[in-house]
Amino acid sequence: MALDRQLLQSIIKEFTVDAEQLREIAANFRQDLKLGLNDPDDSSLRMLKSYVGLPTGKETGEYLALDFGGTNVRVSRIKLQGSGRFEVTKKVGKPLILPGAYDYVGVGSKANDMFDFLAELIDEAIDKDHDTKFYLGHTFSFPSKQTDLYNASLIIWTKEFATEGVEGKVVNDLLKDALTRRGVNNVEPISVINDTVAVLLSAAYQHADTYIGSIYATGQNNCYLESSVKDPENVGVGGMILNLESGGFSKLTPNRFDIEFDEASEKPGEQRLEKMVSGRYLGVLFGMALSELFGEKGKNYGFTSIDMSSILMDDSVDGDRIAAVIKDKTGKDVDSEEAKKIKELATIIVVRSARIVTATYVGIIWQRTGSGKIQKQQIAVDGSVYEKMPLVKENINRALVELLGDEAEKVTTILDTGGSGLGAAISAAMAANHAVD
Ligand code: GLC
Repeated sequence: MALDRQLLQSIIKEFTVDAEQLREIAANFRQDLKLGLNDPDDSSLRMLKSYVGLPTGKETGEYLALDFGGTNVRVSRIKLQGSGRFEVTKKVGKPLILPGAYDYVGVGSKANDMFDFLAELIDEAIDKDHDTKFYLGHTFSFPSKQTDLYNASLIIWTKEFATEGVEGKVVNDLLKDALTRRGVNNVEPISVINDTVAVLLSAAYQHADTYIGSIYATGQNNCYLESSVKDPENVGVGGMILNLESGGFSKLTPNRFDIEFDEASEKPGEQRLEKMVSGRYLGVLFGMALSELFGEKGKNYGFTSIDMSSILMDDSVDGDRIAAVIKDKTGKDVDSEEAKKIKELATIIVVRSARIVTATYVGIIWQRTGSGKIQKQQIAVDGSVYEKMPLVKENINRALVELLGDEAEKVTTILDTGGSGLGAAISAAMAANHAVD
């Protein structure tokens, strides 16, 4: 089978973000931040208030951390020791979908079943001890409308989650009810934060100069510390962290694959940026483009971002690993030349993702900096795409230099794995201290 070189070139062009487009995305993102600070209704960014600023690093005590937001849910017990030190004393986790056994997030799944499942996992994390009092911090990684650190109601599911009976509800109330149903009355959910906020809290607990938190995984989203937002309910220092829900940024130019995929998705029109960049969708876009190259447009091969990572990791001359992935997913045999072309396709999709994400980082930096000089800082990032996908880190760095020139040396991205759990524990400590004050 010969892949059409011309068609491949035109598809590559459609996925290319050139220097000018990169700058335009960063500028538009900054503009949406400005508009959103004034009135979120004027911006495609939700700019959700988290009611938490940065920790002081002195937070201490043992807390439960529930990390809910991807395909796996985790509960940990974390001892904060102050001065940026902590110890994870217990960790349990389970997938939310076990094919053939259960599915708590697909179409038709119900809130009570899902929260009962979470309560059961929490019970396991506390070794069924129903006497000791535990405060629980909850990292709930979906757009939520908050009125304080506890009251967060889900605005809309993202990442193709579809559990009925959660949208519009205060998530920790649903969790509390489930704990009560299980007889676990000694665990008190006390805070809810987005995973981006958790990553920022976790990184800021351990290092100075961190103001932006980001997730680059199944979903993609950023938050940052905004010094101008003040509220009596806010805890912590330096201002309030805003969860941008930047996956919802819509001032982009989607190509025909993006448009077609959005129309077929669980929530058309929503999460336009996320559908172009995040791990949940990279494999889908790749499969859509490949089906055209294979002359069977519209066929869904079920590629995942893990497949893309395997394809990109194959640096061999004969492309055996690429051929194996393609055979497995499409049933087709490809030779070394075709494997090379397929790798070019995977490359451009991943490079586009990294460039768009970087443009959002720079939009935030420009907004935070105003007319002054860029501060030396690190952007805390967690997530499998950032951590494991070949080409991502180097393309982030390249795009930072393209956009910031010499000042790019002041900005680094750092991996903060485990931030979702640690951040939840820190937020619980901050909420508990606030309650005592
Ligand atoms: C989706 C969610 C957002 C979350 C991100 C990363 O974009 O809407 O809240 O932060 O995924 O998990």
